[in-house]
Amino acid sequence: MSFTSKLLLQVVGLVVAGYVFRLWSQYNRLKAFKGPLGTGFTNLWLVKAVLGLNTHLEYYNVCKKYGPLSRVGPDTLITDSPELLIRMNAARSAYTKGAWYKGNRIQPGHDNVFSMLSETGHAQRRTQMAAGYSGKENLSLESSVDTHVQSFIRLIRKKYLSNDKGAFKPMDLARKAQFFTLDVITDVAFGQPFGDLEQDEDIHKYIQSTEEMLQVIILMGTIPAVSDIVQSESVGTLLFPSGKESTGIGRLIGIAQQIVGERFSASAQAQPDMLGSFMRHGLNEEELVSESLMQILAGGDTSATAIRATMLHLMTNRRSYEALRDEIDTAVRAGKISSPVIKDVEGQALPYLQAVIKEGMRIWPPVTGLLSKKSPPEGDTVEILGKTYFIPGNTNVGYCAWGVMHSTDVFGEDADVFRPERWLEPESEKLSRMHKTVELAWGYGKYQCLGKNVAMIELNKVFVELLRNFDFEIIDPTRPWKSGNVGLWMQSELWVRVLEREHS
Ligand code: HEM
Repeated sequence: MSFTSKLLLQVVGLVVAGYVFRLWSQYNRLKAFKGPLGTGFTNLWLVKAVLGLNTHLEYYNVCKKYGPLSRVGPDTLITDSPELLIRMNAARSAYTKGAWYKGNRIQPGHDNVFSMLSETGHAQRRTQMAAGYSGKENLSLESSVDTHVQSFIRLIRKKYLSNDKGAFKPMDLARKAQFFTLDVITDVAFGQPFGDLEQDEDIHKYIQSTEEMLQVIILMGTIPAVSDIVQSESVGTLLFPSGKESTGIGRLIGIAQQIVGERFSASAQAQPDMLGSFMRHGLNEEELVSESLMQILAGGDTSATAIRATMLHLMTNRRSYEALRDEIDTAVRAGKISSPVIKDVEGQALPYLQAVIKEGMRIWPPVTGLLSKKSPPEGDTVEILGKTYFIPGNTNVGYCAWGVMHSTDVFGEDADVFRPERWLEPESEKLSRMHKTVELAWGYGKYQCLGKNVAMIELNKVFVELLRNFDFEIIDPTRPWKSGNVGLWMQSELWVRVLEREHS
């Protein structure tokens, strides 16, 4: 063998040995935690879970099999312990955002509040946006939601009323719910709704293109090394929509750039809306474009899932459906609900409605992504169900949404059952733990959903107006909808028969 070949062999040997050593130490670092085969060495299990469109159940099954802190990747654990999640996300927690978040940039090279890893940058951005999101500096928030609730009701009355004499106009409630939430969120974000409900159409093919991109975005979060390359400005601009496209996310970017650009023109007047509030708190043009795009992605799909899943569970649990309808009818008769659209405060005062909304979020959490947080460099010692665990420093710890929300330890033996009455039981330690746990559907503490107020206004109105005006029935109870999960939901074909209510 020549000298060069020998040298080459030695170099290859050293590289292989280095790689094996790296794999071995990676494996060893978290070897106290059990998980599916191969998770100690690669992220392939996570990739497979996302590709299988059933991530929520994959994560759930792992926690069931391997315990409340299981291993799903070389440096990633997953937990269904509400107490650990509260600890990790609390305002003063030493945990920080994991690399998973990086994949959530909508424009390469441009962070938004969700994708931003820097703790100080993230906290500052949240402070700048809090007043706009809360409605304090966005005076038209509630009336914007009212406008689109009325559009929703008008659309149903115009095109989708069936009756008992044979008229049959099936409606895909999955799509219409998304038209509603997208009209609300584009109105709230830009002061300019898409108008999907009025046209009864995914006008900009936005839904179609987000469904196509969602899996890719989540996969990038799952393999941060790929996201580093794809999301870099030089490579990303070749792959991502630029804003010049006529449909999909590109069209959305174009609209955001145009509307934000107008706000920054010399002749623009300050506006009392969300964009105006963000500007007053110091966001520049680029940041404003990124944040409005984020808002639409974060707020359109999630609230639509909450509406679809809650309606599906109401339609298939007749006693709950009737209890909610009775509460609405009684409140209407007592003059406690305004017309044509219930006020947010009036919705807040209806106990069964509040129980239904909570139970919907619990039985079908709209966000089931890992949302991984990184343990502090010195590691963390935690106690879960009487057992002590040491989480080594810089470990990603992900959220097992289905495990948390379907926990029999927290919610009792009937955790898999849609039963709003569980929220109406007398105050107790158990109930208070249930409340804290279901809140995790919105994230918690320093990372909690900024749009919770917007979403709750939508939810406080939409169920009341749908049920006070119409009766809803599932058309095919054996196959009620198409539903896939990659951390967010892709849902369609929730076919329903809608009938005008006799007394309305
Ligand atoms: C039922 C509806 C919704 C649910 C269940 C939900 C849930 C969540 C969750 C779980 C997070 C992540 C928390 C974390 O990173 O640990 C989040 C973040 C966020 N959500 Fe929502 N969300 C909803 C609706 C909305 C709406 C309507 C908007 C916009 C108006 C919105 C805007 C945001 C933003 C901006 C963030 C990032 C916050 C941050 O990183 O600090 N969400 N949401």
